[in-house]
Amino acid sequence: MDVVGVVVTAVWAMLPAYVPNNAAVLAGDGKPIDGGRELGGRRVLGDGKTQRGTVVGTAAGLGLALLLSGIAPTLSELLGRSLPTFPVLAGLGLAFGAMLGDIGASFLKRRAGRERGAAFPGLDQLDFVIGALACVRILAPAWTEATFTTPVLFAVLVLTPLLHVMTNMGAYALGLKDEPW
Ligand code: CTP
Ligand code: MG
Repeated sequence: MDVVGVVVTAVWAMLPAYVPNNAAVLAGDGKPIDGGRELGGRRVLGDGKTQRGTVVGTAAGLGLALLLSGIAPTLSELLGRSLPTFPVLAGLGLAFGAMLGDIGASFLKRRAGRERGAAFPGLDQLDFVIGALACVRILAPAWTEATFTTPVLFAVLVLTPLLHVMTNMGAYALGLKDEPW
């Protein structure tokens, strides 16, 4: 596969993992997952991780995966490149895994004494990638191995932080997000 193919595949395959966190922002505030509980004097997760945000985010990512699967054959033909389709378990793994990674990062941020919304460079940009890749590897191992080859995986790890920073700055500029990270 050429460089363009690697980049296109990396972005395409990760789209169902990119959307959940942004959809969660739009879903707005709901009941916090941790129910307000604390651990060692600090919130377990904080008010920024809600049940509604998690469900809406996961559904949005899965919905997008199914949509992409629907247009993959036509788009592949137009581009002259074969774009992967998403089995349901792959879409679910990417979407829910992205949310889990973000939730895991909040858990770590609270343990490190950072308040809701505080930036944690590095973790903020890669938490959902690691969650998505780990989860999809468990739910759809064969698909994951076939799709995320070493070059594609490398492209994902390099490009995702860039895309994440850009979309969050966009969401902040539009007033959808309280912080630009
Ligand atoms: N959100 C949500 N549920 C999630 C993830 C996000 O409801 N599982 C919503 C919340 O309204 C959150 C916003 O999306 O405030 C932005 O998400 P994020 O930046 O991940 O949360 P923060 O508020 O910054 O909290 P934290 O410091 O824990 O990351
Ligand atoms: Mg945040």
